[in-house]
Amino acid sequence: MKLDDATARVLSGTKVATEIREGLRPRVETFCRAAGRAPMLGLLLVGADPGSQIYVRNKIKASEGLGMATDLRRLPETASFDDVLDIVRSFNASAAHDGILVQSPLPVGLGAEAEQKIFDAIDPDKDVDGFHPVNVGRLVQKRPALTPCTPLGIIELLDRAQIEISGKRAVVIGRSDIVGKPIAMLLLHRNATVTVCHSKTVALARVASTADILVVAVGVPAFVTRAFVKPGATVIDVGTNPLTDRDRVEMIFGEGTMKMAAFEKRGTVLSGDVHPEVGSVAGALTPVPGGVGPLTIAMLLSNTVRAAEDRLSSDRRT
Ligand code: GUN
Repeated sequence: MKLDDATARVLSGTKVATEIREGLRPRVETFCRAAGRAPMLGLLLVGADPGSQIYVRNKIKASEGLGMATDLRRLPETASFDDVLDIVRSFNASAAHDGILVQSPLPVGLGAEAEQKIFDAIDPDKDVDGFHPVNVGRLVQKRPALTPCTPLGIIELLDRAQIEISGKRAVVIGRSDIVGKPIAMLLLHRNATVTVCHSKTVALARVASTADILVVAVGVPAFVTRAFVKPGATVIDVGTNPLTDRDRVEMIFGEGTMKMAAFEKRGTVLSGDVHPEVGSVAGALTPVPGGVGPLTIAMLLSNTVRAAEDRLSSDRRT
């Protein structure tokens, strides 16, 4: 099965992300006029993880493209826990920082619990990742909360594509704090009947194939094959897995495909968690790249604008 045989509607995250960003622009301008400054995102990057460098660069570019300010602090791989904590505390205390983002993963040398402890130290009202337990609790209780960006982006994409959620069966494969759990909660709040699957789920393909909406966030290239997908289902592919092995690329995408040509040119291509053969079974499918990825950044901007607006209106009340 070649990509070219795909019949599924392509759900472009790139297009929706542009619409979201343009919707934010007037809000940024209004904020700037009212506050006399731009909304500001503080970012902390610890160490030299190559993926993180790219993610952070893209987040800064997108923020500044919208007229927002950014403050990037970098710490070396050898930084101590207290070095990281000091920067988070300075962002918390700053009147000019509206959002705080500590890029994950933190260096392993900081210890297994460091990441959670650092996320816990972020002021929940500036927690634009939505990782703080206060925001997780607010989300579960369906209260106003800063909510993780990828799940928010998925809901935006479904809404703008006019894909009904209420009353539908949704299956989420993956139970991470960043994607699996929060998207399950958001789908539940929109009245889907939600099943969360994971590595110990028995008869995973059979369970997945009951879904009207299938969200896949496992980090395994081409994991979900056509056996997992009910004909006509909407499939949201959260995976972005770089492939550098030619045989693997050929096995997944097939000789003569555009992906194969891209691999021959660059020596690497991205694979989602969903096998390309799903394109001939699903009713709608997000591409990789250009699907969920751009939405994550758009929703980070959205969360930052929202945090800035909320802080401004609470300043005015006090
Ligand atoms: N690393 C990969 N994705 C994310 C994200 O959404 N937020 C943060 N802080 N780090 C990440």
